[in-house]
Amino acid sequence: MPPLHDPHLPRRDLLIGTAAVSVAGIADGHAAPAQAQVAAPAAPPRNPEAPATARLSLTVNGQARNLELDTRTTLLDALREHLHLTGSKKGCDHGQCGACTVLVDGRRINACLTLAVMHEGDSITTIEGLGSPERMHPMQSAFVKHDGYQCGYCTPGQICSSVAMLEEIKAGIPSHVTGDLAVPVKLGNEEIRERMSGNICRCGAYSNIVEAINEVAGERA
Ligand code: FES
Ligand code: FES
Repeated sequence: MPPLHDPHLPRRDLLIGTAAVSVAGIADGHAAPAQAQVAAPAAPPRNPEAPATARLSLTVNGQARNLELDTRTTLLDALREHLHLTGSKKGCDHGQCGACTVLVDGRRINACLTLAVMHEGDSITTIEGLGSPERMHPMQSAFVKHDGYQCGYCTPGQICSSVAMLEEIKAGIPSHVTGDLAVPVKLGNEEIRERMSGNICRCGAYSNIVEAINEVAGERA
C-alpha cells in the first residue's frame, strides 16, 4: 500500500488505508477507553430569544438610578422607556437630527447612538434636569423669549446642545470655522451655526435659535 501521506494517493485508496489503520489499532488493543466514548452531559440549551441583560447605575438629573436592561438598549430608550424622561426626543434614531441630545458628564451626545451600558457611573443631564417651568435655565428662558421653536420637537435637543456648546467655547475648543487658533474663540453667528449644525429644526426656527444663544452668551461674557 502506498504511504498515506503521499499527496498523489487517490481518495479511495486513502479511505481504505485509513480504515485499515483504524482496525489495526483496535486489534492491537489501542481502542479508545470506554469512558471516553460516553458523551458529556449536554449543557441546557440557551434560549436564543432570551436577551442578555446587565445592571447599570447612573446619575440622572442629580438622582441615582439603578436599572437592569437588555444590553442592546440605547441611552435614549433607557431614558424615555425605562425612566420615563420623555423630554429627550427620538427623531431619526440614526444620529442625524440631534433631537435626542443629552449631556453626559457635561458633554453633549446623541443618546440614540450610544448604548446605556456604556455609561455605568456617568452623570446624565436631560432637558428635565436643566430647569423646570417654574425655574427655567437661562437658555430655556431665552428660547421662549426669542421664539426659538415652533412645534418644539427639536427644542430639548437644541437647548441641551447650545448649553454644552457655550461650555466648549469657554474651554477654547475651536470649530471647523474658527479662523485663528492662536486667539480665544470668538462667538458669532457663523460659529453658532457651525457648532449647532448637528441639531436640525424642521420648522426652520434657526434665526431665532441663534438670537437666543447670542443673548445667553452675551449675558455670560
Ligand atoms: Fe438621535 Fe436623531 S434621534 S440624532
Ligand atoms: Fe419644530 Fe424645531 S421647532 S422641529
